[in-house]
This record gives sequence, structure tokens and C-alpha cells, in this order.
Amino acid sequence: MQDKKMIFSGVQPSGCITLGNYIGAIKNWVKLQKDYRCIYSVVDMHSITVRQNPKELRARALQFLALYMACGIDPDESIMFFQSHVPAHAELSWVLSCNTYMGELSRMTQFKDKSAKHEDNINAGLFTYPVLMAADILLYGTDLVPVGVDQKQHLELARDIAIRFNHLYGDTFTVPEGYIPPVGARVMSLQDPTSKMSKSDPNPNGYIWVLDEPDVIVKKLKKAVTDSEGVIEYREGKHGVNNLLSIYGAIVGKTPREAALEFEGQGYGNLKMRVAEAVCEELRPVQEKYKAISEDKSYLESVYKAGAEKAGELAEKTLRKVYDKVGFVLR
Ligand code: TYM
Repeated sequence: MQDKKMIFSGVQPSGCITLGNYIGAIKNWVKLQKDYRCIYSVVDMHSITVRQNPKELRARALQFLALYMACGIDPDESIMFFQSHVPAHAELSWVLSCNTYMGELSRMTQFKDKSAKHEDNINAGLFTYPVLMAADILLYGTDLVPVGVDQKQHLELARDIAIRFNHLYGDTFTVPEGYIPPVGARVMSLQDPTSKMSKSDPNPNGYIWVLDEPDVIVKKLKKAVTDSEGVIEYREGKHGVNNLLSIYGAIVGKTPREAALEFEGQGYGNLKMRVAEAVCEELRPVQEKYKAISEDKSYLESVYKAGAEKAGELAEKTLRKVYDKVGFVLR
């Protein structure tokens, strides 16, 4: 176990886990958990950069943990925990923020997007959020970070911070690599296929929730925006069709081009139905498992408590090393 490489990743419990989160990240977490030592967190501290209803946030965080397991993360193999249960994340974040430049953070496209969306609440946390994400990753000597393409810029910043810190204070952090899937790294909205499928989309027809009932999935896919050409091809400009082919491809293990060949000469209606069938088949076992797991509150509690303990031990070790390097008097 010890010589396995480390993986860290997480999802923010804001909104619900979408097909985008599943295909872009969680499906790969499951795939990678046999060959790596994996830590998967419900990153609740990240989600309060946008205002949350406290009661809903708490319920959602538990739901996310149950969904991680329902998707196939095995608590006997991987560590799962709530970010707020391991104080080292916030502590390392402070040290790293003193080694991150305002200019670097100002260039983050997600900050620009989110501050445009939440003009009434452009808080400091929203700005420094990528530093907390760097702390999440660097605390565990992470080698690989499986994420969708939208997190690439944040990951590059985490690498830059690690390299800078190592240069200033001597070798401390592993410089992480990203794992971005070849297909499905950016699942697009079903209603506006030029923007990514997002769990905070106010229009639920734009996304598929992993717990959507099959008839809802079919309805949403039937309504998916395509184009007026009526030709199934994977090419530049055909955003809606490309998205459907990518979703299908990511699920059945084909490239979108191979998927397009499978549907050559067929109509969009048929394509949508076949994508819906594939999505429903993929999510059926997740939904069944979720039902059983989410009802067992004491099991959930045992998983997140054991997870926080294991993660906390690893994180504390790194934090102590960092505190020593920057010159704090050790406790
Ligand atoms: P979040 O919560 O927005 O998304 C969780 C994961 O899902 C991926 N993803 C997508 N992939 C494909 N298509 C989409 N439409 C789509 N939407 C989301 C994201 O790339 C991500 O992998 N900052 C992170 C959470 C985080 C984190 C970390 C991740 C905090 N600390 C440390 C990795 C390592 C976030 O907001 O992801």
C-alpha cells in the first residue's frame, strides 16, 4: 500500500452531483482506486465561497458522501472525509496564501466567472479559493489529481505554489499532475451546449442529476439543444451533437468520433434515446446503492469519522513539516 502513488480529489457540495461531475471526475476516481492510494473529500469549506443555506449544506454534504460510495468508492480502499473535519486544510491554506501572488489569483477564470455571477458577494474566500484547493492537494503528497478540464488552471496554480515553496524552503511538497479524462472532461449543458454542465445551473433541464429518475433523464435528453442540420457528425461547431456523442462515448468507452460512426445516417431523436438509455443503465446501480447507503446514518458516520482520522494524521505530518520549514516554534 505504502509504495502506491497518492491521489486526492473532491467535489464541492453546492448544488447536486451532475452527470458532468460523474463522467469528468468520479467515474475515474473509481477506476483509479485499485492502483493508487486515494483520498476523496467532500470539500465543504469550498462551497461557502457562495452563500449556502446551512441546513441544506449539511444534508447535501452527507448526500455527497453517500453518493461517492454509491458510485463505487470503497471505504476499505480509499479515504473519504469532510474537508472541514481536518483543520490542517485551513492552516496550510494560510501559509500557502502568503506564498501566492494577487496577480496569479486575479487570472483565475473561475473567479472572474463566479464574481460576475455573484456580484453582491465577491468575498475574499472566492478570491483565495484556489489556495485552499492547493492546500487540499499538497497536504497529502498527492501525485495525481483526477479532475475535469475546468479545474486545470487551479491545478497548475497548485503546481506553481508547490514549486515556489520547494525553491524557497527546500524540498517539501510533491508537485502534482492532473488526470483529465480523454473523453468527457467537459460535459456541456444540455440547454446551452456552449457552456459547461453545472450543478449550480438554475435551469434543471441543463443538467442531469445522478439521482434523476429514468423518465426525467429521458425527458431532459429529449429536450437537449442540438442544431437544424440533422446530421450526426462529430465536428467543430456542432456543440449539442458533440456533447451527446461525448456523453455516450464516455459511458460506453468510445471516442466521440467512433460514437458518431455508430449513429451515422440516423436521426437526432434516436441518438437522444440511445444516450438516455446508456445514461440510465449507467446510473441505475448507483441509484440503487444510494438508497441503501443513505438510509444507514451510523454507517455513514463511521466512514467519515474514520476517514477524517486517517486523513488528519497524514495532513498533520505535512503541516508540521511546513511549520518547521517556515520557522515557527514547534509545539
Ligand atoms: P466542482 O465541485 O466544481 O466539480 C467536481 C469535479 O467535477 C468536474 N466537473 C466536470 N467534469 C466534466 N464536465 C463538467 N461539466 C464538469 N463540471 C465539474 C470538476 O472538474 C471536478 O473535478 N475546486 C473543485 C473542487 C476541489 C478539488 C480540490 C478538486 C477542491 N479541492 C482538490 C481536486 C483536488 C471544484 O470546484 O470542483
